[in-house]
Amino acid sequence: MLHMPKYEKIWLAVGIGSLAVFLIVTGIMAVSMGLNPPDGMETTIIPEQVETTAPFNNPGLQQIGPNEYEATIISYIFGYNPNTITIPKGATVHFKITSKDVVHGFHIPGTPANLMLLPGHIAEYTQTFNEPGEFLFVCHEYCGIGHQVMYGSVIVEDTV
Ligand code: CUA
Repeated sequence: MLHMPKYEKIWLAVGIGSLAVFLIVTGIMAVSMGLNPPDGMETTIIPEQVETTAPFNNPGLQQIGPNEYEATIISYIFGYNPNTITIPKGATVHFKITSKDVVHGFHIPGTPANLMLLPGHIAEYTQTFNEPGEFLFVCHEYCGIGHQVMYGSVIVEDTV
């Protein structure tokens, strides 16, 4: 009977000890994951502030050289801003795309364009459009009930 309180103290100490270890490990993991996102990308924006952070505070198409453009696009549930980009034939487009809410995708079927858009992360991709026509881009990461209606298009005009 005299030994019982002693065992209880030992087990109490073990219990508190393992809880402390668990909390410390969880804390270290949270901090290290926050500093090093699993995909290793460096540029991040707080998703709630995407629309007020450059270059996404001014989304759209910008000419940066002879037939060379930068397309800054924000993805959201369920669409893209802007959702139509019009360029002349032969244009090279540097896409910079992010998400302001959940994980979306950016895929132009029939081309290598295949991006995963993580909230606050800037995905970059460059493509030259040599064929005139309308090229749909679609969200290919399931993002909710409107996923299948999330798309936009690149219109390549046949300039003379
Ligand atoms: Cu956005 Cu699926």
